[in-house]
Amino acid sequence: MTDPARPVPKACIIGHPVAHSRSPMVHGFWLKELDLPGDYTREDVRPENLARFIASLRERGYVGANVTVPHKEAVLGLAEVASETARAMGAANTLWFENGLLHADNTDVPGFLANLDERAPGWDRSGGTATVLGAGGAARAVIYGLLARGFSTIHLVNRNEDRSLALQAAFGPAVKPCGWDRLAAVLPATDLLVNTTSLGMSGQPPLVLDLKALPDTALVHDIVYIPLTTGLLSAARARGLATVDGLGMLLHQAVPGFAHWFGRMPMVTEDLRALLVRDIERAAA
Ligand code: ATR
Repeated sequence: MTDPARPVPKACIIGHPVAHSRSPMVHGFWLKELDLPGDYTREDVRPENLARFIASLRERGYVGANVTVPHKEAVLGLAEVASETARAMGAANTLWFENGLLHADNTDVPGFLANLDERAPGWDRSGGTATVLGAGGAARAVIYGLLARGFSTIHLVNRNEDRSLALQAAFGPAVKPCGWDRLAAVLPATDLLVNTTSLGMSGQPPLVLDLKALPDTALVHDIVYIPLTTGLLSAARARGLATVDGLGMLLHQAVPGFAHWFGRMPMVTEDLRALLVRDIERAAA
């Protein structure tokens, strides 16, 4: 039963823009399912107001927050304690108060790994070679996760070579920068292909790849989840390859924040996934 003397814990997602965020749907589902008092809202905060907003987070009644584009990097410098992962990423997406201090973590890394663990168990057994498309913030989380799981070679395919070289400098020689023109040459030795670019996302140009050269055992993963079945995943399925879509990364990255704010560890269930799938399909119709 709710104690009337205790305020209802409240968290939010901070971004700009933020109206598109599906995080309220995820946390709302868990609050209802676990029958917990709590609230999760959107806060559209312009970059110039971020520092002031974070400084007043507790005053505003928040026990913590998620943080999305364009604030993930800036918010790291505003937290009092940052996790090792957040520091390695140079970015945070989850904030909470602990012993009076504002803590920051980056849950994109465990979110990425948990999605593959759930949808393709044993995916990391090979400890072999991955090919990662894109070299932005999402690629950084993916590479960090792949190295943690023992991948020994990561071909990093990007248009802007400076960004690939920066990731190689951050993560070491296992990361091998590679132009798009060399993709066909690295595919035959690829165990896992991951798209982290915005190509193939609804409203963006398509990602058109010839997947013939991939081994029959390769796994193809797209972190894009709108649409759920991207052109890359369709092409991989047509080629008979195993695939994992990006929705689970969104769901799993939300778990640690919920546990910090509302005190219970939520589950990523098929019912939650189905709710999000319906919403994504409705938006696309
Ligand atoms: P995030 O932080 O979500 O990863 P980002 O930093 O904007 O987003 O990165 C987007 C990625 O998609 C980048 O790797 C970008 O390539 P560049 O670094 O060369 O810009 C890639 N990308 C976006 N549009 C692209 C396009 N038309 N062709 C090739 N790559 C593209």
